Amino acid sequence: MSTEMAIHAIEDERKRLARDIHDGPAQLLTNLTMRLEVVKEMAKRDPLTVLPEIQKVQELMRGSVSELRRMIYDLRPVDIAEKGLSGALLEYADRCNYLLRIPVVVAVDATCDVLAAPYAVAVFRVVQECITNSLRHARAQRVDVSVTVAEGVLRAVVRDDGSGFPYGDTSQHKGFGLLGIEERARLIGGEVRVQSKMGQGTEVELTMRIATYGAE
Ligand SMILES: Nc1ncnc2c1ncn2[C@@H]1O[C@H](COP(=O)(O)OP(=O)(O)OP(=O)(O)O)[C@@H](O)[C@H]1O
Ligand SMILES: [Mg+2]
Repeated sequence: MSTEMAIHAIEDERKRLARDIHDGPAQLLTNLTMRLEVVKEMAKRDPLTVLPEIQKVQELMRGSVSELRRMIYDLRPVDIAEKGLSGALLEYADRCNYLLRIPVVVAVDATCDVLAAPYAVAVFRVVQECITNSLRHARAQRVDVSVTVAEGVLRAVVRDDGSGFPYGDTSQHKGFGLLGIEERARLIGGEVRVQSKMGQGTEVELTMRIATYGAE
């Protein structure tokens, strides 16, 4: 990666982070402050009506705490050297299951662990973004991830059973996520294919030719 590209990537990541904090936790805290203002007024007039409102506030707070935990978790560097791609993906899925209680089911070939670290990190980040999109936008009930190697080609597929979206429609907003996936795939000499239909879920597939030992 050239220095210029690296600087752009860092700046993009900072923009994305600023937007996520603004749209997520910052907005939720503003909402909570307003809701508490209402609770205060209710307490003055009729203390008995306050309890359900406090419960709602508590639920909102719980939601924002798990959202924040997930953001922090996503930001941590991924320890591919220690866990391998398979270990890192399984751990990530466990974490999503625990925090969001939506099954993220990972099937990953241990052969994937032969991938050199920079490639493995790129595959991990692509899968991570797809899972995040499925959980954030699709209202999915389940997300399936598979990573396989066959005939020197690594194939990572993330499929959800959620809302789907009009991918490829140029009027559709493309955030940093999908652009980032395409960019990462390009950098590692891979390709991304997105298939999505309204009401029928989304499937993202990353394919990449990898060096195999002994063969060819
Ligand atoms: N799995 C999915 N199911 C439904 N809609 C999706 C899915 N993935 C992406 N989208 C739609 O495509 C849009 C663009 O996705 P993208 O990841 O590029 O941006 P984002 O998730 O909105 O923001 P960012 O990834 O930059 O935090 C989303 O806002 C959403 O409308
Ligand atoms: Mg996204």
